[in-house]
Amino acid sequence: MRTLISNGTVVGADGSQAADVLIDGETIAAIGTDLAAAGMTADETIDASGKWVIPGAIDVHTHMELPFGGTFAKDTFETGTRAAAFGGTTTIVDFAVQSRGKSLRDGLDTWHAKAEGNAVADYGFHMIMSDVNDDTLREMDGLVDEGVPDFKLFTAYPGVFYSDDGAIFRAMQQTAKNGGLIMMHAENGMAIDVVAAQTVEAGTTDPIGHGLARKAVFEGEATNRVIRLAEAAGVPVYIVHLSASDALAEVRHARDRGSKAFAETCPQYLFLSLDDLGHGFEGAKFVCSPPLRPKETWDDLWQGLVKDDLQVVSTDHCPFDFHGQKDLGRGDFRKVPNGLPGVEDRVDLMHDGGVVGGRITKERWVDILSTAPAKLFGMYPQKGAVAVGSDADIVVYDPNRKRTISAKSHHMDVDYSCYEGRQVQGGSDVVLSRGTVIVRDGQFTGRKGAGKFVKRRAADYARMS
Ligand code: URP
Ligand code: ZN
Ligand code: ZN
Repeated sequence: MRTLISNGTVVGADGSQAADVLIDGETIAAIGTDLAAAGMTADETIDASGKWVIPGAIDVHTHMELPFGGTFAKDTFETGTRAAAFGGTTTIVDFAVQSRGKSLRDGLDTWHAKAEGNAVADYGFHMIMSDVNDDTLREMDGLVDEGVPDFKLFTAYPGVFYSDDGAIFRAMQQTAKNGGLIMMHAENGMAIDVVAAQTVEAGTTDPIGHGLARKAVFEGEATNRVIRLAEAAGVPVYIVHLSASDALAEVRHARDRGSKAFAETCPQYLFLSLDDLGHGFEGAKFVCSPPLRPKETWDDLWQGLVKDDLQVVSTDHCPFDFHGQKDLGRGDFRKVPNGLPGVEDRVDLMHDGGVVGGRITKERWVDILSTAPAKLFGMYPQKGAVAVGSDADIVVYDPNRKRTISAKSHHMDVDYSCYEGRQVQGGSDVVLSRGTVIVRDGQFTGRKGAGKFVKRRAADYARMS
């Protein structure tokens, strides 16, 4: 099957050009002007006049079916990748979980079983390590060879995912040798638990207490600590879901002194704020960790994206229904499952707030959402580029389309939207995954199980740059 995408503007991280794109099978075969006139034939032609042709977006931080707080994140690999595709995201990298006392192998096998035969678009895995010991340290090397070269550890969630500094440092030393990447959830969970208990004792049990207890200084402190530990171990470190100016300052200082420190933020930290955690128990819809921050933080984070102190925007998609899941925490904000839905809305929110809002160029938008994640996570140029030989994961994007975000029309399997009623400009008209159209004009045309595991390389780019 050959498909020609004609008359569009190909937008890449390094520049844009008016060009046609010819797809042959699963990969891009040619890029140039007037390919049809040059005799290149196709079975189907997609007219992209007035549209942008961009590499499929990559979301390197999702949690399909994550066990958390006595329940599970609601989207499966089928519903989650399908919703992602509607929003122009053609690859996700999800977090497989090592449960305490079990092996990494067990956790990874469980996640393969969840995804295989279900995902509608391509997926990879990082590994969450909850138990660092001699056995799991040895297992890390094998995972790198299997295409799962990143390990997430936590200074947060004592008793669940938390690791102490010694455990984190041992994992970092192992990763320095095996070529992988350490990803850190950086909040001082021990201090947070003290303040959270005091907040409840003082009578604040509503979700706003979550935002007040998880102070920005606790994120800044932990961010500095894990970057310093990574420097000592000689390993690159990637700070996930960075939310606070204190934490950004630590990343910026580290990068200025030449540290191989990288970081992502998420749309919720650019468009939502601590105010959303108010309004009584309705605030549970916005409980995630780190928490939403005061509105004043938004400009700092956008500056971080402009100046490349933040390289990536991912979603941390981790959806729990308001009714039946979030309400486990009625009367005690500590029991609200942590996480927000968002895999479907990232591309359009970032286009609307970033490109239409005049904060970033369309090329930087593509970089943040697709090219930089592909490079940092060992998928480039197979993914993250519209280039000859790359996978034909392509979005024909209409920069002028307008829509209103709503739980009534979204495709994520969750009963609310954090962005209910928000108007955004920009939308994905046609979405191709390895050459197959999986979304066209708001209709799903893909197939359950068509998504393939992406075996990723170790973190060569993070080590070089
Ligand atoms: O609140 C969040 N972020 N939930 C998902 C788990 C994590 O820490 O990423
Ligand atoms: Zn986290
Ligand atoms: Zn997460």
